[in-house]
Amino acid sequence: MSDFKTIINAYKDKPGGIIEAYHALQREYNYIPEDAIRVAAETFRVSPAQAYGVATFYSYLKVGPRGRYIIRICESAPCHVAGAAEVVSALESQLGIKMGETTADSKFTLEFAECVGQCQGTPVITINSTPYVGVSAQTIPEILQGCR
Ligand code: FES
Repeated sequence: MSDFKTIINAYKDKPGGIIEAYHALQREYNYIPEDAIRVAAETFRVSPAQAYGVATFYSYLKVGPRGRYIIRICESAPCHVAGAAEVVSALESQLGIKMGETTADSKFTLEFAECVGQCQGTPVITINSTPYVGVSAQTIPEILQGCR
């Protein structure tokens, strides 16, 4: 894995470079590591509080740690009606974490998502952006097994 400084340095002379650097970090790690925010602050000559503020301002940027597999459950109305709540319970009990949390082995993170455009197959989850349609409490163990 490239180190934080190498990733961040590639954007250091660009206007708005800190946001682009955060995007690049998130692509690499799935989230923005807290230590990388400190490096970004030094590189872009802002205070750590300002660098942290930028990272947490945009909802699409996630300050980590997060898991290797980011599992998102669509909670928009069609998926909700089709039983997303049961899928949430199954995921929470199988992984032993609540929504918004990451497993202790840093393997899985559970998050909610808005409609991901797969409404023909509700309820829908995505794992690192790959959609799984028509999921149910019964199919969750097999899907998780595929990630292990
Ligand atoms: S409502 Fe869930 S994918 Fe569209």
